[in-house]
Amino acid sequence: MSTQLARHQTDVASEHIPLLKELCFGVCRQYPKLNSVALSLLSHPFEEKDTDLYATLLLGLYQLSYMNTPDHAAVNESVEACRLLNKDWATKLMNAVLRRYQREGDEIIASLESMPSVEYNQPKWLVKRFNKHWPDQLEEIIEASNTHPPMCIRVNESAVSRETYQTQLSELGIKSNAGEFSPSALYLRNAVRVSELPNFEEGFSSVQDEAAQLSAHILLPKSGEKVLDACAAPGGKTGHLLEVAKDIELTAVELEPWRMEKIESNLERLGYSAHLICADAGDLDAWWEGEQFDKILLDVPCSATGVIRRNPDIKINRKPADINELVEIQREIVNQVWKTLKPNGFLLYVTCSLMPEENEQQIHQFLESQLDANEVPLNTINEDLSIEWGIPVSHGRQLFPSLEGHDGFYYCLLQKISA
Ligand SMILES: C[S@@+](CC[C@H](N)C(=O)[O-])C[C@H]1O[C@@H](n2cnc3c(N)ncnc32)[C@H](O)[C@@H]1O
Repeated sequence: MSTQLARHQTDVASEHIPLLKELCFGVCRQYPKLNSVALSLLSHPFEEKDTDLYATLLLGLYQLSYMNTPDHAAVNESVEACRLLNKDWATKLMNAVLRRYQREGDEIIASLESMPSVEYNQPKWLVKRFNKHWPDQLEEIIEASNTHPPMCIRVNESAVSRETYQTQLSELGIKSNAGEFSPSALYLRNAVRVSELPNFEEGFSSVQDEAAQLSAHILLPKSGEKVLDACAAPGGKTGHLLEVAKDIELTAVELEPWRMEKIESNLERLGYSAHLICADAGDLDAWWEGEQFDKILLDVPCSATGVIRRNPDIKINRKPADINELVEIQREIVNQVWKTLKPNGFLLYVTCSLMPEENEQQIHQFLESQLDANEVPLNTINEDLSIEWGIPVSHGRQLFPSLEGHDGFYYCLLQKISA
């Protein structure tokens, strides 16, 4: 959604962009609830060609339920939007539905309370999966996934220590807490614009979740090593690898050309460079020159079910069938990329998913089929790194999204056995 917003926000006056973001993120965040309410208010759902009207209705309901917009303005603007969409026929319907919600909203919500989509504000299929896999963590996952994430930054420790940066922040009146697990993480007590962060443009800090920061600390690249970042965009972890050791020989591969630009701009701000290749990481003929890597970061495309609070459109767009498709894609990438690893080299498999199929089960299958692969403890390379985060699972460790803390991630470190 952030990408779509970035594309379309030029259509809106700059002073309205915060409102645009609030409306888009807000509707997605509350979608399961709003959708159930909307469907109960309509005698029959809108046809597909009128999805724009349905979105208008959800926006109206969101404003009535969650924003300070005066009720009459929320209703009138929604009705006006029908006209702007050249669908004047819908004005009466929009007005009637929203006015009924104004009058009877509380009773309507109470009558729907037992539906999982309303009770948990998550799609029913996802609640079922979370409950099946993580019954003990269900409440924690749901609560954390439904709230705004905290703003976490990564201090570029090659430029400034975390302690010094924290002092600089505090001198500007920006209060922060040190992350418990990542030595480079600072949580800001209140979100600020990045332009307010000291020396942000000079690359002294980056916005990055604490769990995401663990990748570079686990792999701990060292000067001169040949390192591959196999699914690299937008380049958050690419930059971190270089902060840890700027003179590594880093190759970053990314499938999507438009996402490559993000890696470029991230590295430019940080003042680093890498060999950037736009290709399918699983298609070795397309990008690999035949020289094996010492270390590989494999942050595969995944269901992103550990970061729903950052990408609330997942509540609308993610479908159960996606999981199996993603598992297949991940399997192909990991099997192929493994060939590019040196004997004794390390591959860190990472997802921001909570689905065991994409995580421990994926690794289980991999280890069954790759006899030269060994799982090793996550602090094998970086002995100083505490790995008391998340929970150990059959392979690797699973982190769950936490209210004031990190996102949901999965990590497993593999080493290639030398022949
Ligand atoms: C989880 S994101 C990576 C996030 C990144 N490591 C970071 O920290 O900023 C996965 C990325 O893999 C890319 N991707 C998907 N399939 C790919 C493939 N077959 N080969 C290379 N990249 C791929 C996606 O476009 C996406 O940018």
